[in-house]
Amino acid sequence: MAPHAGAYTRAELTDLVACAEARGIVIVPEIDLPGHTTAALAAYPELGNTDVSGPHGVSCVWGVHDTFLNLDPATLGFCEDVLAETLAIFPSPWIHIGGDECPTTEWERSAAARARCRAFGIDGVERTQAFVTTRLTDWLRARGRRAVVWDEAADDDLARDVIVMAWRHRRFGLGAAARGHDVVMTPCDATYFDWYQSDAAGEPPAQPGVTTLATAYGYAPRPAEAPREVRERIIGAQGALWGEYLPTTERLDDMAFPHLSALAERAWREQPTTYADFTHRARVQLERLAVLGIRGRTLPGA
Ligand code: ACM
Repeated sequence: MAPHAGAYTRAELTDLVACAEARGIVIVPEIDLPGHTTAALAAYPELGNTDVSGPHGVSCVWGVHDTFLNLDPATLGFCEDVLAETLAIFPSPWIHIGGDECPTTEWERSAAARARCRAFGIDGVERTQAFVTTRLTDWLRARGRRAVVWDEAADDDLARDVIVMAWRHRRFGLGAAARGHDVVMTPCDATYFDWYQSDAAGEPPAQPGVTTLATAYGYAPRPAEAPREVRERIIGAQGALWGEYLPTTERLDDMAFPHLSALAERAWREQPTTYADFTHRARVQLERLAVLGIRGRTLPGA
């Protein structure tokens, strides 16, 4: 496994925001809370459920961990401080606060967490994530920003102004839209471009799962068969390129293009053309990208 490391300075992020803005792009930052927080626990052990786990080192494996932030008021204050730093750098009207892959196991085991739940009036440990999400979405709303969350956090009680990103399955996005949320579709089986591109031998290492170019082009973020009010709440789509298996820019380009072109066309164009027509145009697009120094995946027969 290749070591993964790195951090951005505030100045680098500010430059990135400006660079994107000059190109008409808004960067939506994600601070994943309350799960996926092992790095914070390694740096600030007091944020953890110290009665049942820790101290934690920097994780050397990726995936879902069952170590989480504790529920002390100071820890929630820490989350708000991190978000305040984020708002100071990113002018985006939308701020993603994660909410995915957060088992409640550690809060169940921790007497301190259970006591906090009772003190906060949280109705059972399983409602803890919703409590944290609500607190942070309210905090963002009070500062004029709109929260975005992953679909696990989209339960019935989620405030309707929160945008939901459906990643586990498209049905979660359709359900959230039916309940009145604006939704960004990013179902992993069609829009996770860090999955293998084919099942052929010799594909470079990737996340288990296959997203072929035809699958990416075949995916309609706003399905024609959905009711009109649901379709209208699907405000966009995302292609995901998580970096675990993409250690170099070359690997990233190879996985991103032309899959991203396929998704962009389906997200922006109501009526798709045929896949054959798309691949014909994608070959030309790959040539344009090559002029810019971006080497996408060569299409078969090229
Ligand atoms: C995700 O891939 N856990 C959003």
